[in-house]
Amino acid sequence: MRPYPLYLAPMEDVTDPAFRLLCKRFGADRVYTEFINCDALVRSVNRTMQKLTISEKERPVAIQLYGKDPETMAWAARIAEEAEPDFIDLNFGCPVKKVAGKGAGAGLLKDIPRLLQITEAVVKAVRTPVTVKTRLGWDEQNIIIGDLALRLQDLGVREISIHGRTRCQMYKGEADWTEIGKIKHNPLIHIPINGNGDITAPEDARTAFDTYGVDAIMIGRATFGRPWIFREIKYFLETGEKMPAMPVKEQIDILKEHVDNSIEWLQDERKGIVHSRSHFAASPVFKGIANFKPMRIQLLREEKRDNLFALMDEIATLITQNEG
Ligand SMILES: Cc1cc2nc3c(=O)[nH]c(=O)nc-3n(C[C@H](O)[C@H](O)[C@H](O)COP(=O)(O)O)c2cc1C
Repeated sequence: MRPYPLYLAPMEDVTDPAFRLLCKRFGADRVYTEFINCDALVRSVNRTMQKLTISEKERPVAIQLYGKDPETMAWAARIAEEAEPDFIDLNFGCPVKKVAGKGAGAGLLKDIPRLLQITEAVVKAVRTPVTVKTRLGWDEQNIIIGDLALRLQDLGVREISIHGRTRCQMYKGEADWTEIGKIKHNPLIHIPINGNGDITAPEDARTAFDTYGVDAIMIGRATFGRPWIFREIKYFLETGEKMPAMPVKEQIDILKEHVDNSIEWLQDERKGIVHSRSHFAASPVFKGIANFKPMRIQLLREEKRDNLFALMDEIATLITQNEG
């Protein structure tokens, strides 16, 4: 059977060591740090340096960098290399104004010569394999990924991950996998092409591999409050059957574990809880429960670990009773 690699997409403020390890445990074949600003890295800003923290247990792991100056990016890549990641990934896809508007991330899709200079400088600066994550182009009139992929390959980039949207789409509309498939099927491309965008169910993953032929898929938002999605998808790809749903109590226990890991990572009870809230808000565990609103509000307000966990247990009992 062919391999079906599933990667945890890089996500700011989400893919910290605690969450990466959890996803790894459920079968993520590669994890990425959140994007790290190269200017802050070369200035040794403490909070930024912390983002380089990786552990043996999470390998293979990629450290992702962003910036717009080739020399600074190369310097930052050398600093990142000291943390011994398996890959250094270059972010040419972030659409947000504070990044793309300043000419970094997806902003570089409007300045391909600079994007290529950055890539060349980084590839030359480090021995670690360099990969790229990008989008289809700046806007619908400028889908340049076909030519860009070839040029990146020529510069020695080892893999390209493509989010099937343009910068102007931000996160709206649907990811265009047909464009990703075209790159993968170009006979001149021999490096792995990884697809990204809107994978939320095992069937999506099957289509990505079978129809579009990608070498790996990268999953982002669907992992929120559901790190076990990797296991569910793997099971489906390997057996053709849907995995039986995990008991609610087990799901809640995993979310609790995430809270504890976040508290430990941030060394602060309140911060760890606040940090986990985006996962609660998005988790399928808490979807579709009748009259849940008051409990949901409480769930997203609680600041004490023990109270939070008691509330989560109460919710687990409620769901189980409703199911029964
Ligand atoms: C909260 C959030 C933070 C993100 N941060 C990054 C980032 O640091 N680097 C990056 O390359 N992409 C980042 N992305 C984009 C994701 O990696 C991914 O490309 C996008 O969410 C589409 O995949 P999905 O549909 O599976 O979520 C971020 C996305 C979200 C929702």
